[in-house]
Formats: sequence, structure tokens, C-alpha cells
Amino acid sequence: MDALQQALKIAFASEFAFYLKAHYFHWNVEGSNFPQYHDLFGNIYEEVYGSIDTFAENIRKIGAYTPGSFTRFSILSLVEDETDILPAEAMIVELLDDSDRMVEMFKIVFQAAEELGEHGLSNFLADRQDAHAKHSWMLRATLK
Ligand SMILES: [Fe+2]
Repeated sequence: MDALQQALKIAFASEFAFYLKAHYFHWNVEGSNFPQYHDLFGNIYEEVYGSIDTFAENIRKIGAYTPGSFTRFSILSLVEDETDILPAEAMIVELLDDSDRMVEMFKIVFQAAEELGEHGLSNFLADRQDAHAKHSWMLRATLK
């Protein structure tokens, strides 16, 4: 259970960092396709943010305390912080890379939850994997 708790905290911090990056790109993207990019990042950050509270409560349900500070998030997150203002296409490339990373992370944490019989949690993690697969598809299709 300790390993599942730790893996879940890492996935949660990564998800929060992903949410923040998508919102940051929504705010700062520029270029001739601004409306489409602004909306693309907007749809992604809204979907991910909508999962955050349930995610945190799932950590509590398996007996751990949920992280909730920039300090802890920066220690735990596998999604790296972005502080530069990137060109639009570089934003899409970076968020796609992060979304693919989230898909792989959720596959691993899903297995850990299944092994402990935490089926409610594994259902949630499967849904997060699926949501990120969709975000990756949208981002990848935009780059073509
Ligand atoms: Fe907005």
C-alpha cells in the first residue's frame, strides 16, 4: 500500500503540473491560429482541472494525505515546469510529450491499484489514462 500511495502522490502532482502548464499555455499562446490554440489548451486545462478534486480525495481514501503545495508538487511531479513563453507549436509539442507521459504513468499506477484490489481507484485511473489519450490525440492531430 505504501508504494501505491507514493505512486498516486507522484501521479497527482504530475497531473496538477500538467493542468497548470495547459492553463499557462492557454493564457500566453500567440500566433495566426490563436483562437484554435487558445481553445485547444482551454479544453484540456478544464478537463484536467475537473479531475483534480476527485484525484486528491482518492489519495485520502487509501489512507494517505494529499500534497497541495508548490513545494511538494515540484518535488513529486514528473511533469517539468515551464517558465518560458514558447512559440505556439513548441507549446503543443511539449504538452503532447507530457500527456503521453501521463498515459504511461496511469498505466503503471492502474496496475498497482489492481494488484491491491482497489477497483474503484483503478477505474478512476483508467479514466484518467483515457482522458490523456484523447488529449494526446488532439495535440498530435494539431501538429500534422
Ligand atoms: Fe480563459
